Amino acid sequence: MEFDALIKAATQARENAHARFSNFRVGAALRTPAGKIFGGCNVENATYGLTLCAERVAIFKAISEGERRFDAIAVVTDTDSLTPPCGACRQLIWEFCGEVPVVLANLKGKVEVLRMSALFPRPFDASHL
Ligand code: THU
Repeated sequence: MEFDALIKAATQARENAHARFSNFRVGAALRTPAGKIFGGCNVENATYGLTLCAERVAIFKAISEGERRFDAIAVVTDTDSLTPPCGACRQLIWEFCGEVPVVLANLKGKVEVLRMSALFPRPFDASHL
């Protein structure tokens, strides 16, 4: 399937989750139109508030490597109910990736594909500035 490699990369990234406070391990993976994939995991710290979600880690890795266009993002957790991106991540996925498919998956092979416009209607972005 179109998103298999992306889900696999997010699943692998999840293995590196630094989630010692919540024990909620998340992996994400972001794909460029050329097929390059950037993984990310959640990284927690003792302040809790400085935690970075897996999605934002993947985005910042890709941006810092010079990538600017993306065509899909995946989020993987070990939960029966699939995990959608938090509000802060929706803002950044919208600004950096636009109207991409957001692929939610778990370790049992359950997959759901949503569009950003459904997850994040009427966004604030640079077009308002
Ligand atoms: N988390 C993510 O990494 N991505 C999400 O989409 C939801 C939440 C992380 C943040 C925190 O480390 C843990 O999950 C619990 O909120």
